[in-house]
Amino acid sequence: MTQVGIIGAGPAGLMLSHLLHGQGIASVVLERRSRDYVERRVRAGVLEQGSTDLLAASGVGQRMQREGLAHDGIKLRFAGEEHRIDFRRLTGRGITVYGQQEVVKDLITQRLADGGEIWFETEVTAIEGIDNNPRIAYRRNGDEATLSCEFVAGCDGSHGVAHAGMDAKSYERSYPFSWLGILAKTPPASNELIYAYHERGFALHSMRSPEISRLYVQVDADDTMDAWPEARIWDELRLRLAEPRLQPGEIIEDGITPMRSMVMEPMQCGRLFLAGDAAHIVPATGAKGMNLALADVKVLAEALTAWYRSASRDLLDHYSDRWHG
Ligand code: FAD
Ligand code: PHB
Repeated sequence: MTQVGIIGAGPAGLMLSHLLHGQGIASVVLERRSRDYVERRVRAGVLEQGSTDLLAASGVGQRMQREGLAHDGIKLRFAGEEHRIDFRRLTGRGITVYGQQEVVKDLITQRLADGGEIWFETEVTAIEGIDNNPRIAYRRNGDEATLSCEFVAGCDGSHGVAHAGMDAKSYERSYPFSWLGILAKTPPASNELIYAYHERGFALHSMRSPEISRLYVQVDADDTMDAWPEARIWDELRLRLAEPRLQPGEIIEDGITPMRSMVMEPMQCGRLFLAGDAAHIVPATGAKGMNLALADVKVLAEALTAWYRSASRDLLDHYSDRWHG
């Protein structure tokens, strides 16, 4: 038995568990993958200021503040012609380049140091009784069991189980292209991200550290890595980014990510609340996903806190409206 059963140890689930702990609310995080796997999974890399503020204010921002790369803007390139967007001047805010798996590592370290419960290699198979008596059915080491809780937070990403059985409408769109992303041992060729438009397709130059670059090229939706030998990736990146300083380096990670959009409406049903990719997906172009996941759980933690402090259901009832307006 716990107060809040949280499915998924991505940024949403871990941050929710951490914020609830800060309010004296107990939770258990159930994660189907191993700790090693979630800490190595290469994904997002850009934190907006709302996210860096949340990490810092909740006491898990020290390493990000030390090692993250603070940027004041981005560069847009059209056929080699550059337009810089100065976020700092336009909005007074900046972005921080810090890998999602680093955020995940910092949150796991903090949760475990605080005595938090994260059950790795535990796959949730069903959620029962969401109207008044929630139970999370799970499988671990071949054994099946259930965890009773007062609320369930579905933070299990776009392929999770939480949204599957919900009485909600899902709006979806798949785009006719994907992004091939690589992590390469080569110093970033630019001090800021470059988003490049090119007639052969989009390309993005991002980074993770002064030694590691994160690079993307738009590919056809049905392309596989077989069609993209290393030489072809570098040729396309050089051509589309029009960046002469870009040097090929050892590719340490690669993968193809389909571009799609999805939103569930509403994001809640009874005592089940969705957060992060389980509730909505946006294409990686806007670098929004991790930021939205963190923003959701900030709102959800406030609503659960109001419930446990004063038995007020108002914020919980309106959780979804904060998104759908
Ligand atoms: P996830 O990180 O997907 O976590 C869900 C967790 O639930 C996973 O650990 C999964 O193993 C677990 N789970 C699933 N099913 C079950 C089950 N049945 N039982 C138990 N556990 C389960 N976003 C940005 O903000 N900026 C970027 O620059 C950016 N770039 C991206 C680049 C790529 C290549 C990709 C793929 C995504 C990118 N995103 C970016 C999106 C971002 O990574 C996601 O939005 C983010 O991971 C959402 O966090 P989450 O916690 O909601 O879900
Ligand atoms: C990344 O660094 O992985 C990244 C940056 C910007 C995006 C998407 C991904 O828009």
